[in-house]
Amino acid sequence: MESASRIRTAVIPAAGQGTRMLPATKAVPKELLPILEQPALQLVIDEAVGAGVDHIVIVTSASKPAIEGYFVRTPEVEEALERQGRHALADRLRRYGDDITVSFVHQDEPRGLGHAVGCARSTVGDEPFFVMLPDELMEDSSLLLALADLARDGAAVALKRVPTNEVSRYGVVNPVGDSHVGAHGEVIGFDRVVEKPIATEAPSDLVIIGRYALTPDIFPILDALAPAATGEIQLSDALTIAARAKALIGLVSSIGRRDIGNPVGWLEAVVDAGLAHAEYGEDFEAWLRERLAR
Ligand code: UTP
Repeated sequence: MESASRIRTAVIPAAGQGTRMLPATKAVPKELLPILEQPALQLVIDEAVGAGVDHIVIVTSASKPAIEGYFVRTPEVEEALERQGRHALADRLRRYGDDITVSFVHQDEPRGLGHAVGCARSTVGDEPFFVMLPDELMEDSSLLLALADLARDGAAVALKRVPTNEVSRYGVVNPVGDSHVGAHGEVIGFDRVVEKPIATEAPSDLVIIGRYALTPDIFPILDALAPAATGEIQLSDALTIAARAKALIGLVSSIGRRDIGNPVGWLEAVVDAGLAHAEYGEDFEAWLRERLAR
């Protein structure tokens, strides 16, 4: 059993347009697309709660009312789940608004990840918080717990190494100093983040994956930030400014992770969940093997 971290708040930016998953996202927000029978957002919140978070701040937009709708307590749904014997799931739904506070803030239009995080400023208050991108699913809460542990006097972000031809999809960090292997894995300082560079201009092969432990001093930086060339307020730019005073901490993670913001990544996550399912995983695997042999 993992113990709770000292970070109790998680900001989940969910106001983007989800264009890679169109046309499904015309009707269903990307964050609510199901991984089997559960919306992806539910799994991300479970990850946060597993790390001791009890305040979830969802940044959403007026054009995605289904996100808020999902968190309305509906006793009929809980009773139906109980009747089906799915007690743990019913319990988890009951916790929203009970011991887990879910707050919503609106981003008027998608002006970038940094802008979305900045919208949460007054709701988060003066305390450290996680940022969790809901289109990335992690296998458990261990990464959040490790980041909270590392972010004791500044931000800590999760990194992974990728092949050079993939760097242009991510924010890439410029490492400084020596890395060391600590209790949670390889830890490295960085002083700059370059957003989606072309491969030849990337400062390293270490990219940011969607989990951050931040301190509230990022908010005034975000508020003062000018838009990047893309017109977006980038969280990466704010991290670069924050790193001027002192290098930020990156944890090179090997956690199981799925990027569900694109059709293939979403399908992989669904297949993974199907294979791992306690009730029908075995039957699904048998079907899949038979299907592949055809
Ligand atoms: P993405 O860039 O992956 O999401 O942002 P997107 O823009 O919705 O998707 P595509 O690229 O058009 O397919 C990562 C997360 O940040 C949120 C998104 O909702 C997503 O969960 N986000 C992004 C915001 O909340 N506001 C923004 O302005 C941008």
